Amino acid sequence: MFEQECVPFAPSLIESMRSLGYSFSSAIADLLDNSISARARKITIVAEPDLNPSLVIFDDGRGMNQSELYEAMRYGSSNPLEEREDDDLGRFGLGLKSASLSQCRRLVVISKKEGRVCGYSWDLDYVMEKKSWMLKGFTDGEIDEYPHIELLNAVEHGTYIYLSEFDRIKEGTGNISETFNKCLDDMINHLALVFHRYIDEGLKIVVNGAEIESRDPFLLNHSATQRKRESSFHINGEKIVLKPYILPHLSKLSQDDLDKVGGKERLRSDQGFYVYRNKRLIIWGTWFRLERKDELNKLARVMVDIPNSLDYMWSIDIKKSTATLPDIIRRNMYNAVYESVLSSESVHTYRGRKEKKKEDVDYIWERIKVREGYEYVINRQIPQLKMLEETLDDEQRKMLERIIATLEESFPVSALYVDAAKGNIEEKKQNNAEVVDYLWNELQVQMEYVKNNDLHLVEYYNMFMKVEPYCNYKEITQRIQEEIEKYE
Ligand SMILES: Nc1ncnc2c1ncn2[C@@H]1O[C@H](COP(=O)(O)OP(=O)(O)OP(=O)(O)O)[C@@H](O)[C@H]1O
Ligand SMILES: [Mg+2]
Repeated sequence: MFEQECVPFAPSLIESMRSLGYSFSSAIADLLDNSISARARKITIVAEPDLNPSLVIFDDGRGMNQSELYEAMRYGSSNPLEEREDDDLGRFGLGLKSASLSQCRRLVVISKKEGRVCGYSWDLDYVMEKKSWMLKGFTDGEIDEYPHIELLNAVEHGTYIYLSEFDRIKEGTGNISETFNKCLDDMINHLALVFHRYIDEGLKIVVNGAEIESRDPFLLNHSATQRKRESSFHINGEKIVLKPYILPHLSKLSQDDLDKVGGKERLRSDQGFYVYRNKRLIIWGTWFRLERKDELNKLARVMVDIPNSLDYMWSIDIKKSTATLPDIIRRNMYNAVYESVLSSESVHTYRGRKEKKKEDVDYIWERIKVREGYEYVINRQIPQLKMLEETLDDEQRKMLERIIATLEESFPVSALYVDAAKGNIEEKKQNNAEVVDYLWNELQVQMEYVKNNDLHLVEYYNMFMKVEPYCNYKEITQRIQEEIEKYE
């Protein structure tokens, strides 16, 4: 064997990296991810849509010193397999470069940390000329020449990005400034949606002097938005949380509300899951092909929070705009919301879809509509399982999931059908008092487990009150209520 280093040829690779498929909006969103990860509270965008458009993105985040900025400019500045901080929106060590240069030929980054300023630039024409990965660095005097660089003077730390030579925009149009303005409008809409949770928590994004208002796709401030039961499940020890909402009926939506949810025409197409990585919206308006986007569900939207530690499971792409969810996550998500949203009679009246059930009861077996018929699955949210799951380690949790899945798969449908038809199923004949005593003792044993494992007592009592079989006996729910009152 012999070894021989094979370094990529800069002019070809840097040009190819421009074709990852970013849109103008998704490229700018990728740059804002960096600002947010750097804990910026205010991001200022200044666009000059003249014949040679340019764009400044300035943030008051933690900034970078010279060596950090040099590393940040490197393609592949960090390893995608590295564990990231919980609130880091990055993954590949590419976004800053690949997003910017997907739209334009020149990226200038000037950063300030501990009062010191430094600057570097990737200039595609310079790389072509030098035929190597040659960065340009700037002296203080050169830095002062950049438009709006005074923004950086006003802060202790922050980062300034200047994008120019927008060749991709120039290519397809006869009217550059008009096209650039259109890109800016789309960008504002896009940022308002994908960062709506950050904006609602106080992040300011100002574009040419106007602050972007968040576009909350669930209209949480609207009094008629219905919040359905929240649920969660664990994948490889990480928690995925689902919050289903039903938007108010069309008649209750003002024009402003409609704009927020994407307009009347988009209501139907934008129903579905809204998947967030940290609090940044990645994919929205899809049921992942597990449900049709029909008229009946058009008001249903489900917020799904997936931590960045699960990136490896959902093959997230460099643009953070598409991702394929593994089957297990999709199915769990679907099952978790089926009862509360998709079959909900509060959104629509549609007969024959599911048996009439009480809204406030947690059934152990759930009847789930799948594409061709129904499936019976065990509800993972019942307290009997949840308390066990909370006390298991990852390995055991996976084992439990496997056992439940096996039980579900082996459900003796045909035998049950035959026996039920022949009247062969024996009904348990116990009098009420006996059953209540038996169930109460059972419950005590389970609550003992809750206590011994430091789980939340009142929370579990509340869950048990709503779940089968306990919820079927008034005597039991009353006793649970008395127990709860002792703790409150
Ligand atoms: N606005 C900024 N403020 C502070 N640091 C920044 C800023 N932008 C980039 N950086 C630093 O530069 C690094 C490289 O950024 P880049 O966007 O290329 O990759 P990433 O964010 O690590 O991953 P991804 O490719 O998934 O975006 C970041 O990890 C961060 O340390
Ligand atoms: Mg990034």
